[in-house]
Amino acid sequence: MAGGAVVSATEGKDYPGKLTMFVFLTCIVAATGGLIFGYDIGISGGVTSMDPFLKKFFPSVYRKEKEDKSTNQYCKFDSQLLTTFTSSLYLAALIASFFASTVTRLFGRKWSMFGGGLVFLVGAALNGAAENVSMLIFGRILLGIGVGFANQSVPVYLSEMAPARLRGMLNMCFQLMITIGILCANLINYGSDKIKAGWGWRLSLALAAVPAAIITLGSLFLPDTPNSLIDRGYDEAALQMLRRIRGTDDIDEEYNDLVVASEESKKIQHPWANILKRKYRPQLTMAIAIPFFQQLTGINVIEFYAPVLFKTIGFGNNSSLLSAVIIGLVNVLCTLVSIFTVDKLGRRKLFLQGGTQMFICQVIVGTLIAIKFGTSGEGDMPKTYAAFVVVFICIYVAGFAWSWGPLGWLVPSEIFPLEIRSAGQSINVSVNMLFTFAIAQAFLSMLCHFKFGLFYFFAGWVVIMTIFIAFLLPETKNVPIEEMVVVWKRHWFWGKFIADEDVHVSGMAVEISNGKPKGAGV
Ligand code: BGC
Repeated sequence: MAGGAVVSATEGKDYPGKLTMFVFLTCIVAATGGLIFGYDIGISGGVTSMDPFLKKFFPSVYRKEKEDKSTNQYCKFDSQLLTTFTSSLYLAALIASFFASTVTRLFGRKWSMFGGGLVFLVGAALNGAAENVSMLIFGRILLGIGVGFANQSVPVYLSEMAPARLRGMLNMCFQLMITIGILCANLINYGSDKIKAGWGWRLSLALAAVPAAIITLGSLFLPDTPNSLIDRGYDEAALQMLRRIRGTDDIDEEYNDLVVASEESKKIQHPWANILKRKYRPQLTMAIAIPFFQQLTGINVIEFYAPVLFKTIGFGNNSSLLSAVIIGLVNVLCTLVSIFTVDKLGRRKLFLQGGTQMFICQVIVGTLIAIKFGTSGEGDMPKTYAAFVVVFICIYVAGFAWSWGPLGWLVPSEIFPLEIRSAGQSINVSVNMLFTFAIAQAFLSMLCHFKFGLFYFFAGWVVIMTIFIAFLLPETKNVPIEEMVVVWKRHWFWGKFIADEDVHVSGMAVEISNGKPKGAGV
């Protein structure tokens, strides 16, 4: 069949077309939505460790920190009030992502990005100018709304624009931008902490306006995805867009498949009720389990509290912030490893390798801390010993950066059929935010109570999630997004949830034998 789709038995179709400059640039611009999330993750830990900030907004925390002469290293920084500042944003993001689902579906992905960027911009201004705690918290809520909208729309946008065989790579630019955002924030905190006049924290918070301006303006230039255009009735525009992004006129096959997917999705009145149907059980399970597990790797303990953690093991203020910068750098560089391997190695191999690496490092870090501080939390850590701890934390972050970090956003965005994609992505974002919130809120008191055991606690979860992936996540590399159902149908466990008549993929004769599609010719 001239120029038609090629189907491989294991991976699905490969539509004609190449990676055009146009699609590459649109994906880079859209991915900058990750900057605002990353900037926020990286900025709050440093700001809350700055004395002028604490004195102005949280004087009681400041007094406690200065007066507390207790020798228990594990409990030095336990303050619920302070963690509320960090975690309030994630609650706002959680709620916003549900509204974002409707905007994304009805008006297209780009307007969710635009709206998110704009609200974030206002939040940044409010935070930079904050005179009292209410301004600060209100600003945080606006930032959270921005993050909710961006995280809901950007990963879906990237997965829909990308050609199937490069989807992993392009989608992961979102995570790359998150890590760049974190690193920039770490660097800015490192510099602004040195401002003697005491307004460094204002600079840190107000500079969030820069990434916000990038995504707000950038989104205005973004085209909508063909999937979304068809879904909203702009068939001709979708056809043209598909030609443009694939760089070929030979797009009929892909176009027809998108139309079929859209027709299926039109039959659905209520995506929220629909997602509960038995045939979507595999996707729903993943939309909940993947973000839940991503947070239970313990990564945000490092992201939010690295400076505090390093102070706990005896580092000075400056070297704590510097160590956070080093970790930020490792995070960016190792995300690149994933970007260049994910479409060749596949998702599963990265998940399994990264999980094993994280587990080993967590056990080592927990043990190193246990040897020095025991359960009493009393003791000192010599410099070289503490440097070892930092090295293993870096290896742990590397493992996360090429597995659960990017895959935690990629996999959920590529497994949903169009009819439940927006709703599914909202569930993914909100579960992610809920557990980001829970961990941000609970970490300092968990450290105080679990002590070094906290690292074993997260290591235990990493074992569970690695086993979960090994048995329950099918490989999704190179499978066109609107044909993912075939992957689930073939799976030893999830196949049972999908009836033969639910596998309707146009142009692809999916041979069903004993209830299993065999992957066949066109
Ligand atoms: C996670 C964040 C985390 C970041 C670290 C993201 O994928 O969702 O919670 O802070 O990776 O790089």
